[in-house]
Amino acid sequence: MRFPDGFLQEIKYRNNIEDIIARYVNLKQSGSNLKANCPFHSEKTPSFTVSKSQGFFYCFGCGAGGDVITFIMKIENLDYLSAVARLAEFAKLEMPADDGEARDILIRRKRIYEMNRDAALYFHDRLINLKSEDGDRVREYLNRRGLKGATVKRFGLGYSPGGWDNLVRYLLDKGYTRDEMRAAELCRVDKKGKYYDFFRGRLMFPVIDVQGNVIAFGGRALEAADGKENGPKYLNSADTPAFKKSRNLYALNFAKNSKRDCLVMCEGYMDVISMHQAGFSNAVATLGTAVTGEQARLIERYAKRVVLAYDSDEAGKRAMNKAAALLGETGIEAQVLKMDDAKDPDEFINKYGREKLAGYLDKPKGYRETVIDEVLEKYDLSVPGEAEKAVGESCREVAKIKSRINREVYAGHLADIFKVMPDTFFKRIEVLHRKHIADEERDEDKRFEEKLKKETVTPEEKILGALLNYPEFYNDIKDMLVEDYLPDEFYRRIFLAVKEIAEAPAEFDILQMNRDFSADEIGRITKMRISEAATKFLNRSDKLRNHIDAFLKHKKAEQPKDDWVNYIRSKNNYNQS
Ligand code: GTP
Ligand code: MN
Repeated sequence: MRFPDGFLQEIKYRNNIEDIIARYVNLKQSGSNLKANCPFHSEKTPSFTVSKSQGFFYCFGCGAGGDVITFIMKIENLDYLSAVARLAEFAKLEMPADDGEARDILIRRKRIYEMNRDAALYFHDRLINLKSEDGDRVREYLNRRGLKGATVKRFGLGYSPGGWDNLVRYLLDKGYTRDEMRAAELCRVDKKGKYYDFFRGRLMFPVIDVQGNVIAFGGRALEAADGKENGPKYLNSADTPAFKKSRNLYALNFAKNSKRDCLVMCEGYMDVISMHQAGFSNAVATLGTAVTGEQARLIERYAKRVVLAYDSDEAGKRAMNKAAALLGETGIEAQVLKMDDAKDPDEFINKYGREKLAGYLDKPKGYRETVIDEVLEKYDLSVPGEAEKAVGESCREVAKIKSRINREVYAGHLADIFKVMPDTFFKRIEVLHRKHIADEERDEDKRFEEKLKKETVTPEEKILGALLNYPEFYNDIKDMLVEDYLPDEFYRRIFLAVKEIAEAPAEFDILQMNRDFSADEIGRITKMRISEAATKFLNRSDKLRNHIDAFLKHKKAEQPKDDWVNYIRSKNNYNQS
């Protein structure tokens, strides 16, 4: 979508970048810029910088960067249009009515929501009313898993009939096109060009966002009569223009209204549904992936504490460690629900009932406590050699705890278990703690240095950076540089954007770039703009010409015999994923 230039400028004018960012992070003055710990990655020394005068932010640690629109896109997990809408809301500006392309995208998305909703109702109707062996089988399955009718209805569960293209034909009847179904990932195309249902013969879980839109589906294979399952156990919708896996959580639409102060994070759809049925309406799950940073920030809006209720197998433990680390970085307290003798929350509830689970959930264990418990369980403490190992390992874990008083609590607790003097224990922990902090800082410094090294821009980035800073230079250099000379699709897109800015300055502005480039790409673009190399040209397009000249000569020298443009093109891959 292309907003009128004046509108975007108004948005930018009324939403001062430092005021907007200060709503989310604690900015401190540093020279002519503002600095803070980066909200997009975890760090202890600030590398997140805001330039008031130039209206952008950039993090030297993780490369996130852009203008106020990019910032809102990233911090609020919004796409371009919604980010602009949010800023318009902040500034009490009305969104322009007549913006063809935006309307198109919104209409397309709305169409997917509608189609998904129709599909969900279709699946649900099959589940309830289908008079066939298949229908009986899926209803019997739900029964066996203890799902009540009200639950089935609340979650809008359904059944995607077997066969080939039942849904495709149904949706065609309703007036949707095959292309639309394809865009919503509801169908696929076979080699002969025939469209077929993506979900066939599966128990269906519609995924509903916090606004109530049906954005995706999960489909569980049903056990066949011989106990075997058909195909993968779960199929999940791929990302679509209306759905991004990494930004959504299953059942957050219900969990966000829960009165409880925490969310319970499960691994699967069935766990979440069982939990809700048992009265724990604060359960959510990721959609077939590990927890992402985007989800952590989404969670942060609803809860300060998350209880991890992952499967008790090795994979579940690994996922739990990862999730705990990630949530910790966001500042969310991670706790652990330990379920003895059950594989997952669903099984636990069915085996032991809700009361027992409620008891566990009332006093969940801290993540660190769980890790230390596991160390203690691993060893036979009555054997001195094993006890020694357990002391070493548990000290190392306690040493990672940030708060001194908590380290002392653990020291006292463990000293009791091992029957040693608390003081001896604590001293040892403090030595390890200092070492741990030093290690972490060194790692962080190292990562930062590596990042900084990568910060140096290539000759073509230098050119693009200068052109982005001074689009008016374009007319002075267009006789010598065309996009084909640039060795990468990304660079060519930037070049074309600059060209557009230069040729139609009234309609296009760098502000518009958020529309055509992802937030990550805007970060890279920001890096080019602020690189010392790109700013050196100041107001001298003749200097830029010299630089381009050198760049082209260098590229030519690399060329073997053929046309060198082809050579440059073939040398670089064109993955445009
Ligand atoms: P039940 O066996 O029905 O109780 O399911 P569950 O919720 O216990 O699922 P499980 O622990 O096996 O898997 C957890 C989650 O991982 C599921 O909800 C899916 O999102 C995902 N998942 C499981 N199996 C597959 C698979 O075969 N393919 C994909 N893409 N995802 C899967
Ligand atoms: Mn299960």
